[in-house]
Amino acid sequence: MRHLRRVVMVTGGAGGIGAALAERYARDGAAVGIVDANEAAGAALAQRLTDAGSRVHFAAADVGDFSACESACRAIETALGPIDTLVNNAGISPKHAGKPMPFWQMDPAEWNRVMDVNLNSVFNFCRVLTPGMVERRFGRIVSMSSVAGRAYLDIVAAHYSTTKAALIGMTRHLAGELGPHGITVNAIAPGRIDTPLVRGVAREANEKIVRAEPLQRLGAPDEVASTCLFLTSDEAAFVTGQVIDVAGGWLMT
Ligand SMILES: NC(=O)c1ccc[n+]([C@@H]2O[C@H](COP(=O)([O-])OP(=O)(O)OC[C@H]3O[C@@H](n4cnc5c(N)ncnc54)[C@H](O)[C@@H]3O)[C@@H](O)[C@H]2O)c1
Repeated sequence: MRHLRRVVMVTGGAGGIGAALAERYARDGAAVGIVDANEAAGAALAQRLTDAGSRVHFAAADVGDFSACESACRAIETALGPIDTLVNNAGISPKHAGKPMPFWQMDPAEWNRVMDVNLNSVFNFCRVLTPGMVERRFGRIVSMSSVAGRAYLDIVAAHYSTTKAALIGMTRHLAGELGPHGITVNAIAPGRIDTPLVRGVAREANEKIVRAEPLQRLGAPDEVASTCLFLTSDEAAFVTGQVIDVAGGWLMT
């Protein structure tokens, strides 16, 4: 129960890695705010965790929209109390018939959407929640980057890797600026994790990656959650500005 008395917000918490995070934080004693655009899945998960005895509140929002993020934070804080732990997990990686769009054919609207969901969302939630963390002199922030933020991967498009690299820069900057206020800021760079996002790609593409990994398998959402829970726990109180790969040894950098 390392997160007893914590109030944790997980964005994109209704599915994939986010749902594993919500579940693990709830089991670890935290009150959990789930934000997701998928209302049905978010409400169902919140209900299931509440029935199991946890304090959970679901707020539906498009994380790319600043005022929707603000409303979601307020709704969760009203229900559960001040948010001290923020996990910026929501993200998209658009595919076309299972393939990434070549940069030279990319629609500007698709580029901007990925910026909004993967990158501007992190600004939105950090901007809304850090004033309270600064005031209380405590905060934990983790953002979901990707190994695609550090290396060229032909299975994702340029907008995706751009946002994931930007999150690494943002993590380091915020760690520097917010450290003196008692706030740690870290990132996780997952490799290939078995979620709906990865299942949208041709099976051969995933098999090729698995063969290139020392551990020779897809990761499980719960394995990403384990690293995230460590980073927000008291055991990691002296860890900030770091990017931790959870990638089975793939693309060691
Ligand atoms: N799965 C992987 O292999 C992998 C690898 C590297 C990084 N990541 C990152 O981990 C994070 C989670 O990925 P995942 O595989 O669990 O994805 P997923 O597609 O399985 O789940 C993403 C969740 O985010 C929600 N979401 C998407 N757009 C949203 C929006 N605009 N507003 C609110 N909610 C929204 C979805 O409804 C869904 O519940 C993402 O940031 C992703 O880029 C995943």
